[in-house]
Amino acid sequence: MKLRITVLPGDGIGPEVTKQAVAVLQTVSDVCGYEFRFEHHRIGGAAIEADGTPLPEKSLASCLESDAVLLGAVGARKFDGLTGEKRPEAGLLALRQALGGFANLRPVKAYEAVADCSPLREDVTRGADILIVRELLGGLYFGEPRELAEDGHSAHNTMRYHRDEVERVSHIAFQEARRRRRKVTSVDKANVLETSQLWRRTVTEVAKQYPDVQLEHAYVDSFAMQLVTTPARYDVVLTENLFGDILSDEAAVISGSLGMLASASVGGKVELYEPVHGSAPDIAGQGMANPFGAIQSAAMLLRYTAGLYHESDKILQAVDRTLSRGLVTPDLSGRRNRPAVTTEAIGQAVVESVTDLLQMQMAYHAV
Ligand code: NAD
Ligand code: IPM
Ligand code: MN
Repeated sequence: MKLRITVLPGDGIGPEVTKQAVAVLQTVSDVCGYEFRFEHHRIGGAAIEADGTPLPEKSLASCLESDAVLLGAVGARKFDGLTGEKRPEAGLLALRQALGGFANLRPVKAYEAVADCSPLREDVTRGADILIVRELLGGLYFGEPRELAEDGHSAHNTMRYHRDEVERVSHIAFQEARRRRRKVTSVDKANVLETSQLWRRTVTEVAKQYPDVQLEHAYVDSFAMQLVTTPARYDVVLTENLFGDILSDEAAVISGSLGMLASASVGGKVELYEPVHGSAPDIAGQGMANPFGAIQSAAMLLRYTAGLYHESDKILQAVDRTLSRGLVTPDLSGRRNRPAVTTEAIGQAVVESVTDLLQMQMAYHAV
């Protein structure tokens, strides 16, 4: 198995967490005798400073020639006053568009070992296991026209969807549901927005091809409340771009920390893997960043790009083991007041655990 992976560490804690994710992938490669090649490039604020643009041509070219892209995070306070194309975030949006992954899969689950880290009661989060399928290339993020008026007194964005865009992401959601508990909750604002009325109609139409999957619709305002009151009720949650952005950060409280969430953007030319969190400038450079989201993004890479289901599962098991050993960064200190360890120490523990799990399995098969 050969894989060419472009790594875009980005800004803030991006480089800290991607370093650990790469170490875990390198371990899988070494232990299993695969050939994973990593090529590092700049994106975001780091690229603006060095190359004058948030997505340099060299970075994009490398991504397009790769089997997969692993990204850390973009964004820095220094650029917060800028607008549009000049922002680090513009580099990420251009990258997503160029790679073409329109379905952004964001798994969210309650981890038993750190259940006390969520502000939600344990009886509320217990058993929660959700896959948010966020439409990633449409809606307000990319709709034209968009403008901040020159006088700075008015601005507009456009929320636009074509039924083809809704259809293709719906198929992904229903297919994922078939591998899970066969339930899709489609989240919209069809009581107000025409785009949502189109969304609801199209999802309902696609659902007819999946009679074995149960479909329900929910309004985003009420869903935002139910997501944190009865999270265990949900399986696949399908929604448009901006709603998905907001709901996934909200859902992170079920896991105990935003640092736990991973994502995969699929359906395009090259798959993109990135944790859900941002560059966290408030904790950057201090060895405090939770790398589990980045590490679980690496596990998603092995599953969705390489079809290495077994190895992918071992990474997830290693994450569970590490959490069970009480090894956490400060964001997962919890009501039990666990002593915190560094980002590096977590990465190292996962590497050791993955090595053990893979070697155990190989020894078993050798008998
Ligand atoms: P953020 O996700 O960076 O941070 C929100 C809060 O969560 C902060 O308190 C942060 O310390 C904490 N946090 C986030 N990730 C963590 C981790 N791995 N471990 C421990 N704690 C973690 O969101 P923000 O502060 O609103 O945004 C900061 C910058 O990141 C902005 O420039 C924003 O545009 C950008 N951003 C980028 C991405 C991305 O690259 N995919 C995603 C979201 C935000
Ligand atoms: C995310 C982020 C991005 C988004 C930003 C940084 C462009 O918040 O991946 O959730 O809004 O999609
Ligand atoms: Mn977000």
